[in-house]
Amino acid sequence: MNGRIRNSEILKRVVSAEKAAELIKDGMVIGISGFTPSGYPKAVPSALTKRVNSTGEKMKLSVYTGASVGPEIDGDWSKAGIIARRLPYQTNKELRNGINDGSIEYTDMHLSHVAQYVNYGILPKIDIAIVEAVSITEEGFIVPSTGIGNSVNYIQNADKVIVEVNENQPIELEGLSDVYTVENPPCRKPIPMTAPGDRIGTTYIPCDLDKIAAVVITNLMDKTRPLSVVDDVSKAISKNLIKFLEKEVSENRLPKDLLPIQSGVGSVANAVLAGLCDSDFENLTCYTEVIQDSMLDLLRCGKAKLASGTSLSPSPEGVLKFREDIDFFKDKIILRPQEISNNPEVIRRLGLISINTALEIDIFGNVNSTHVMGSKMMNGIGGSGDFARNAYLTIFTTESIAKKGCISSIVPMVSHTDHTEHDVMVIITEQGVADLRGLSPKERAYAIINNCAHPDYKPMLLEYLKKGLKESPSKHTPHLLEEALSWHVRFIKTGTMKNN
Ligand code: COA
Repeated sequence: MNGRIRNSEILKRVVSAEKAAELIKDGMVIGISGFTPSGYPKAVPSALTKRVNSTGEKMKLSVYTGASVGPEIDGDWSKAGIIARRLPYQTNKELRNGINDGSIEYTDMHLSHVAQYVNYGILPKIDIAIVEAVSITEEGFIVPSTGIGNSVNYIQNADKVIVEVNENQPIELEGLSDVYTVENPPCRKPIPMTAPGDRIGTTYIPCDLDKIAAVVITNLMDKTRPLSVVDDVSKAISKNLIKFLEKEVSENRLPKDLLPIQSGVGSVANAVLAGLCDSDFENLTCYTEVIQDSMLDLLRCGKAKLASGTSLSPSPEGVLKFREDIDFFKDKIILRPQEISNNPEVIRRLGLISINTALEIDIFGNVNSTHVMGSKMMNGIGGSGDFARNAYLTIFTTESIAKKGCISSIVPMVSHTDHTEHDVMVIITEQGVADLRGLSPKERAYAIINNCAHPDYKPMLLEYLKKGLKESPSKHTPHLLEEALSWHVRFIKTGTMKNN
């Protein structure tokens, strides 16, 4: 018996990656494990790319994942023309190019919605689920690796399942997962969780033995994303966040050990969280989507006692450091299906502090997280909407300028809206903090411009607001429609939003 494959029937189904890839046919819908790229299958996708590139075989697939997956899929499959449709999130350059040149159809979705769309057949049915596992149990159940994402639902709904048992993933990952399946309505029972550390499910994904069509043994590292170094701007954002949280505690609006923290993806989010290591806060908990380097550092330095997410996705160096200390982390990390990590019911019940990054924010508090200049897809909304809409405290951070100051991240009107003024409670830039709770649109505009805008753009924003208050037909949200998007138009035409 193989130490990683403990079911003798399943052991008989071990084949090469090439053989398993033969199951994949043109036009199929493929459901894939993994999230922000960790825990995704690598050998079977690469074998398919090789076959398509060498034979010129027509292969157009619909690809569903948890979130972004590694370059072996999002990059190589895009280059080989294999991806016809993709959902629900991505961060890959080649895939982004395909989406933005119109050759790949992309459905940018709230991550908590995907499981329901799959379960109810709203999305075309999954033909094959390809999932990465640490091991397969005696019963033939699948022990997921570092990114659970939507694996449970993809396995349940697929006709066939291919499992990559990755010997590169430490066996100590067994036990980290907590797999719980949400019932269908009507009269859905509450998810039995009242604290971020509650374990409510199994450490494996149940799977009908007959469905497992092939098993491939691999030994390949996740290609996780490197993070930028923490710069002075991110440090300033982080300091402003900590000052704001301390004030909330002193005014009894937050407990001393705060509420469970959700932190977004990317370099800025990672850097902002890193500052908490030097703060006076203690006994923190994290109920989030992606566990990145700074969350592991919070656990390491003893500031946080627990992190729950759907993906363990540190940078390449962070993965190696994690593996050195894996025994320390074992009882401090829980990985859940994204239907649970991002579940509105749980987010509202736990009362999260949600901190996500915006591309741009308008003076009335609407946030664009996804579209550069209104039409170019960056990554996708990911889980930011799941958290922002339902958290106790919804914070968006951004540097006040982008592209060396040619873009103001605070604009008269966002060129695309992901999070509306109704969900956005607090905005933090390196300039300061705007607490928007309870304010009218006009009051929000003054708070955002005066506290968060860059000095280069503050006078222009105040001028827009004052002109709007004078000339707009209504003074509630005093927009000037002929000027509202003129900053973006100016940037596209001249390369800067500045007007001189
Ligand atoms: N207009 C145009 N480009 C902008 C911009 C703006 N207003 N603000 C930032 N950018 C560019 C940056 O210049 C940078 O470009 P580059 O890749 O060419 O260098 C890029 O956007 C990324 O910005 P960066 O400052 O490095 O931030 P990041 O890595 O932290 O990513 C988001 C920021 C918004 C793209 C990222 O957080 C995201 O995809 N968010 C949506 C999903 C989400 O929130 N998920 C978390 C849920 S749990």
